[in-house]
Amino acid sequence: MTAPKKLYVKTYGCQMNVYDSERMTEALAGQGYVATDSADDADMILLNTCHIREKAAEKVYSELGRYKDLKAEKPDLRIGVAGCVAQAEGEEIMRRQPMVDLVVGPQSYHRLPELEARARSGSKALDTDFPEDDKFAALKGRGPKARRGPTAFLTVQEGCDKFCAFCVVPYTRGAEVSRPVAQVLDEAQELVARGVREITLLGQNVNAYHGAGPGGEWTLAQLIRELATIDGLARIRFTTSHPNDMDDDLIAAHGDCDKLMPYLHLPVQAGSDRILKRMNRKHTAESYLRLIERLRAARPDLHLSGDFIVGFPEETEADFQATLDLVEAVGYGSAFSFKYSTRPGTPAAERAQVPEDVKTERLQRLQALLTRQQRALQDAMVGREVDVLFEKPGRMPGQMVGKSDYLHAVHVTDTAIAPGDLRRVRITESGPNSLGGTLA
Ligand code: SAH
Ligand code: SF4
Ligand code: F3S
Repeated sequence: MTAPKKLYVKTYGCQMNVYDSERMTEALAGQGYVATDSADDADMILLNTCHIREKAAEKVYSELGRYKDLKAEKPDLRIGVAGCVAQAEGEEIMRRQPMVDLVVGPQSYHRLPELEARARSGSKALDTDFPEDDKFAALKGRGPKARRGPTAFLTVQEGCDKFCAFCVVPYTRGAEVSRPVAQVLDEAQELVARGVREITLLGQNVNAYHGAGPGGEWTLAQLIRELATIDGLARIRFTTSHPNDMDDDLIAAHGDCDKLMPYLHLPVQAGSDRILKRMNRKHTAESYLRLIERLRAARPDLHLSGDFIVGFPEETEADFQATLDLVEAVGYGSAFSFKYSTRPGTPAAERAQVPEDVKTERLQRLQALLTRQQRALQDAMVGREVDVLFEKPGRMPGQMVGKSDYLHAVHVTDTAIAPGDLRRVRITESGPNSLGGTLA
């Protein structure tokens, strides 16, 4: 028997890339690869990349630059680029960095074993098709049946048809596609059998899910209700959602499905209707606020999270103020905010740009407000009892860390707790990034 080859995967970008990296690692296990966390002893390095902002894409090239010497020392080392930069730039990557052997897009990574074999034989291997074959059917099950951690991602939907004027995702991930219900349920069962207690359903527009199921196409709410019947699965989450795809049943599920957690990531991007229109978001600030009201009517303790872009082309101080007003009106439990980054090929790239120093200043103001809100909601947990799913040991001896229903990190020092335990915790303190407590 030959010794296993070592695979080093580095993941950038969103949770969907985290999921894809797991699946690619599983696919290459069939080619005799085992995962390593050091690039230095790898036989294959695979960068799973993100193209969302300029900095994200540039990181890939600087990382590849670091592997030049390694490749010179080890001619058998193979270097691959996967993910959204691979999709966006294709062959260009090999032109800029000739040491790259393999480029594979997010829709064709089920063909990785073939591509690896081609790269191994000394040829260049490129696949950035949007093939007709079902990637997930080709990937089959989730590989070795070993126990795994208590939380897992499960991609149920991919791609985006929304074409927000700033965003590359519709070009890198292609059109919206939903996985069939049976395939999702099988994968969830498999994960639960391996020790998973919390599943986060993933999609670039996960609430646009419309997978083929018994009786016709199912919605995300139907899928969630079915998943909730799986014994041993304690928690369900989903991300990322678009406000326009939040249907009545999904809103209702937040109130009547116990396993669906009271936390929702619902990006709005901006608070000015003028800017929302230019962004092609197809909703207004008012319609978003009304939607939040309905969600809170269904689940009063719902924690909301959002994404924001500041300095979108033509954004004025008054437009930006409208974003601050919207944030004030909602009160976010957590949020991600970014300076607008020009992406070649997207409509907004051609428009009048906001100066960099203005973007920087607006981002600081927005982040100060969001941090204040986040901190206030976190501090308000002190004195309350919450359920915590423990995941792993903390930094202090005897400490375990996990997540509350609201996705707050919680640490408890108690040797009676094991990973995978779901326990009631009384919160006693609120630190910069986490809560502390004792078993209730
Ligand atoms: N599908 C999700 C997430 C898309 S990418 C959604 O629709 O919400 C994650 C976030 O990156 C976006 O919500 C947006 O806030 C940000 N983003 C996307 N393109 C960007 C750009 N060109 N510049 C800055 N931020 C961007
Ligand atoms: Fe990008 Fe908009 Fe699609 Fe989200 S909805 S992935 S921001 S185009
Ligand atoms: Fe990035 Fe692609 Fe995700 S561009 S955010 S890795 S969908």
